[in-house]
Parts: sequence; structure tokens; C-alpha cells
Amino acid sequence: MNTELLQKPFSRRVFTRVLGALIAGASLLRVPVGAQAQASSQAQAASQAQAQPASRSEPINRIAFGSCVHQDKPQPVWDVVNAAKPDVFVFLGDNIYGDSEDPAVLQAKYEQLGAVPGFQQLRQQTDVVAIWDDHDYGVNDGGLEYPSKEASRQVMLDFFGEPADSERRSRPDGIYTSYVYGEPGNTVQIILLDLRWNRTALHEVADAEKRTSRLVQDMGPYDASLEPGATMLGEAQWQWFQQQLQVEASLRIIGSSIQLLADFTGWETWANFPADRQRFFNLLHTSPIVPTVIISGDTHWSEFSRIDNSGLPFPLVEMTSSGLTEEWQAISPNRHRVGEAFAQANVGLIEIDWSVQPPAVVMQIRDVEGAVLIEQRVGF
Ligand SMILES: [Fe+2]
Repeated sequence: MNTELLQKPFSRRVFTRVLGALIAGASLLRVPVGAQAQASSQAQAASQAQAQPASRSEPINRIAFGSCVHQDKPQPVWDVVNAAKPDVFVFLGDNIYGDSEDPAVLQAKYEQLGAVPGFQQLRQQTDVVAIWDDHDYGVNDGGLEYPSKEASRQVMLDFFGEPADSERRSRPDGIYTSYVYGEPGNTVQIILLDLRWNRTALHEVADAEKRTSRLVQDMGPYDASLEPGATMLGEAQWQWFQQQLQVEASLRIIGSSIQLLADFTGWETWANFPADRQRFFNLLHTSPIVPTVIISGDTHWSEFSRIDNSGLPFPLVEMTSSGLTEEWQAISPNRHRVGEAFAQANVGLIEIDWSVQPPAVVMQIRDVEGAVLIEQRVGF
């Protein structure tokens, strides 16, 4: 999503298991999960690549995340993030508004982000991980067809300190990844899906009247992609995701750059790919049951969504935080929304309550002053 929409409506927006020996023998607790077979040396290399990686013997307690940060804009939100001292920060996409097939342009925009003092402090004090969405991929609402994805990923992974030998750099179908933090019995798995590399065609509404009526309802220009083979993840990533859901964890956080639980909005959400969305639910409830929450971005507003009948023994809750700088006033209807939605710059915080088993989470959206806009406690 981007702000140009205001002038141009409808071009909007814009393993697995913890390596026991490694964990037991190291104070560094973040383990990249994708390269499990390559064991400890690669995991340690990945962690060392972070500016100041998490290094503690206790489980992580606080995770912050956000999306949609425009490199040209003031970014007061970092003061709120840094004051909260999260153990991990997740960039959920649109981490720059790159919007170029030229990797030099993307690199220059990442350098703008990298020069922001608040971001620099974040890198110094917090473990930072990232996935992309369309604008940092390189094009608004881009997918499988985008020709410069290879160049885009190298620039992005360079910026975020991904090791040179990481499979995220060379895997033929995208930069999806996962991490496990903590010790056995108190582990948090974070899965970050790549919703760009393999995403098949979107279908834009052609009829002018229908488009206008969508706009009046604060809805976007897309119809669902129902053709055989329509997919967001692609088959190899689905297989990988299924394996990730076998990982033992006390808490699982699934990062989706675009909204997953939200009702159909006509903008980019999983609802445009109903077969994939249903496959997601099916996989969750046919895999070992682990307390799970969804985090997402992209929208330029913040909200909670909840589905009670996903097949899991607990309500499935999604917290959408967007944007770190971007704001979009025309909030779409969403029958799965819980409470209010807020169209002001914000960041998401997840506090894990380890005093109960299974752990509970307190999920908050905070504005750039640090005020709590929305809060949900989620038990399992
Ligand atoms: Fe986006």
C-alpha cells in the first residue's frame, strides 16, 4: 500500500527441532531453523551476523514487530520500540518503499533506513529479523512475475546481515525462514513466510462500476484467484511450512506480510487465494497442536482479527501492525475484526507470560507516543 493511492485510487499499495546440543551448550539462543541439517556452525554464523545478537540464558519475553516504513519520512516510532527493549524485532515487509527494478535504488533506500538513529539503536540492542512484502520486493503488489527478485533479495539480505552461505540467498523459490528462540520447554518459533516470490496472478476488477462501488466501501480492486494452481506460497514453500509445523515449540508466531484472517477486502490478503487460506488452516489443525498467533502488516492500519472455528482448540488471533510510518484512513470492513482499528502509525508488541502453561501472550498495538491503542491477552 502506498500513499499515492490517495491520488490514484486502485493502484493502492500498494527443524526442526531445536538442536538440543547446540542449545544446551550455548548462551546464544536463536537458531535459524531452515538449515537444521547443517547444525551448529551455520546457526552460530547466522546469529553472529546480527549487530548485537540476543545473548541470554533465559527465554525471550518480548517481541516487537512492524511493517511499512517509508525511508523518506520521520520515524519517531523507534523511540517507542527501543524503550520497550524487545528481545527480537521482526520486520514484516514494506521495510523500504523501494519500488524499483534497480538494485542500486533499493540499496540506497536501505541505506536511508540504516542511517536513522532510532533504527541504528534497534540494531545495537535487539535481534532483528526480516521478511519482505511488495514494495521492498520491488513493485507494488508484485508476485511470481517480478523480474528483479533475485537482485532484490541479495540487497535486502545484505542489509539485514544474512550470512553469505544462508539458503535464503540461494534457494530457488524465496526467502522464507524460521527461527527458534529459548530453551527446551520455553521455546518460541517464529516462521516468516515469503508471500511474493511464488505468488501467482492477482485478478483486478475491470468493470468501472464495480470498482467504484468497491471504493465507496473502502475496498480494493481485486477478485479472488480461483484458477487451478493459484497460490501464494508455491508448493515447495508449502512443504517447507508443513515441516516447520512439526517443530516442538511452546509458542509459535507465524509472520505473514499481508493479512491472513481478515475478511475479503479486495486488497491484497490471503482471502484472494481461498484455497491457500484453507490449506493453511488445514495444516495448522492436522499438525501437532502448538499455541499459535499470527502477525501481519501491509494495510497501513492496525487491528486484531480472530477466527474461532479454524479447527484449532483455541481461537486463532492475528495482530496486524501497519505502518511504522504509513497511515491509511479508508479502513476496509472485516467481519473477523475484534475491537477497533486504528489508522495511525504504530508498532506491535508481544509480551509472553511464561507464568502459565501453556504460555499466554499479551499483544499490543502502540502509537508513536507509546500509548496502547489496542490490547488482547490470548491464552491457549
Ligand atoms: Fe505491501
